Amino acid sequence: MRGLEGKNVIVTGGTSGIGEATVRRFLDEGARVVAFGHRADECAAARRALTGLLAAIPLDVADPQQVADAFARADELFAAAGDPQLHVLINNAGISIRHPFLEIEPADWERVIAVNLNGMFFCAQQAGRRMAERGGAILMTASTNGIVGHPYYADYNASKAGVILLTRSMALELAPQVRVNCVAPGYVMTPMQRAEYTPEMLQATNRKIPLGRHALPEEIAALFAFLASDDAGYITGAVIPIDAGETAGGLASRDWILPSGTPQ
Ligand SMILES: NC(=O)c1ccc[n+]([C@@H]2O[C@H](COP(=O)([O-])OP(=O)(O)OC[C@H]3O[C@@H](n4cnc5c(N)ncnc54)[C@H](O)[C@@H]3O)[C@@H](O)[C@H]2O)c1
Repeated sequence: MRGLEGKNVIVTGGTSGIGEATVRRFLDEGARVVAFGHRADECAAARRALTGLLAAIPLDVADPQQVADAFARADELFAAAGDPQLHVLINNAGISIRHPFLEIEPADWERVIAVNLNGMFFCAQQAGRRMAERGGAILMTASTNGIVGHPYYADYNASKAGVILLTRSMALELAPQVRVNCVAPGYVMTPMQRAEYTPEMLQATNRKIPLGRHALPEEIAALFAFLASDDAGYITGAVIPIDAGETAGGLASRDWILPSGTPQ
């Protein structure tokens, strides 16, 4: 990719799944990367596993003070490495809970919104303030769950729909210095997905996906790398599904729900 070498990049949720693959991709592109993760042990493991990583900083993105402190620490690390300017934020940390709408407890609703929407806002605002004059790119992880309804994830879906409109609003306010875009992955094979889907559920889901499989985290990382690069210089305010055709169809796409996967 053009224009990623030597850039300073923060990846939230950079210790697992999509975020970890994204850290690896930006390191491969020659960027300086700081990962944010939730737990100290995850961060210690990421530091050991990801050669070249500048740091992995534990925080709760739902806490604005912890977010401010983590960005300040990243500033120091980038400055010590030779360039204090933050160029790219991959705003990706998130959680999900599979539960029926009628059984969602207020505390669960509040936690999902606090991490997935408030956390995205706190991190994006910190990055936006640092980029407002000298420019940069902010990339958000939404989901196809923020585009169409999915059962058992009402809180998650609402949070991801919020991320999409947060992206578009920021893109308007931060232009022309900062480009703000959002990726909307479909089903990605990560620890989050494995925690909530049995092997039978994964197979049944694959039969509904036009390309017939889950995404690899590296495939989402590749889209982030493109969107952060100079090649994406005319793209802002975009919401890009990366979903193997999951959201391409209307009623006709229901054919894919057949157990055989054969349209009739
Ligand atoms: N896996 C999928 O199928 C899928 C599909 C669409 C969107 N997404 C989104 O992609 C993003 C990454 O998901 P994943 O599947 O890689 O999940 P994952 O569970 O593998 O990783 C989640 C990451 O977020 C971090 N995190 C969680 N809570 C946090 C908190 N309170 N503060 C700071 N960091 C926190 C974790 O430390 C971890 O690094 C999420 O926003 C998720 O909603 C995932």
